Amino acid sequence: MEQNSPRPERPLSIDVVLATGNRDKVRELQPMLDKLSPLLRVWSLADLSLAPEIDETEPTLEGNAWLKAEAIFSLVQSRFRWLIVIADDTGLEVDCLQGAPGVRSARFAPVEAGSSPTYDENVTHLLKLMEGCVDRAARFRTVIAMKGRLPSTEKGSAQFEESVEGKIEGTITTRRHGDGGFGYDPLFMPAGMEITFAQISLEEKNRISHRALAVARAALRIREILHRFGISSTETGTNA
Ligand code: IMP
Repeated sequence: MEQNSPRPERPLSIDVVLATGNRDKVRELQPMLDKLSPLLRVWSLADLSLAPEIDETEPTLEGNAWLKAEAIFSLVQSRFRWLIVIADDTGLEVDCLQGAPGVRSARFAPVEAGSSPTYDENVTHLLKLMEGCVDRAARFRTVIAMKGRLPSTEKGSAQFEESVEGKIEGTITTRRHGDGGFGYDPLFMPAGMEITFAQISLEEKNRISHRALAVARAALRIREILHRFGISSTETGTNA
């Protein structure tokens, strides 16, 4: 569901801000959050007319996820009373390249300053660097960082910070297979399968992927957090 203008306030609502301009990620998270509690109102940065430039300068996925969560929390915290900011970072980690491309997955292949490599250029670059690699083990890893402020019966309000991760192990093939998916999918063969992410259906990928796992864990963690703060996940809202 897309939201372009704020809905009327309920006595207690918790605004969930997804630190992404990527609508696919919003579509992935929204149904899970909607199921968690009717109190949660989900916003993408685009819904809030925000497009901040956040340089992902940290050397780890965790670092970059937190960098984004902190930056967006600072940016939106004056707009919302109760809020949860959710930020993610994903990378492909290849063992014979000591974990590369990792945090550089989107910007792996060398290109002219100021431009970004295409998925295809990144795939070609990875294949080239892996020529002669016998150990082709790799994994996709997604880290989700969550920072929020919720009503607390003892202190009036309290902040929390939590992170979760999802990963899937597999191997990197020696050439492209399949034309589905995106990014490094044509090269990634999940453990226990004989085909790549680009050859399985989107439904299947969304069932087993690193991101799906991280999103499911994030939803579960939010349910625990609401419980910890004494906010019932089926509440319709009177205990602000
Ligand atoms: P992001 O942090 O989700 O933007 O992902 C960073 C980069 O990792 C993307 O630009 C892709 O190159 C790669 N990537 C992330 N998720 C996937 C996936 O599910 N399949 C293939 N590549 C992915």
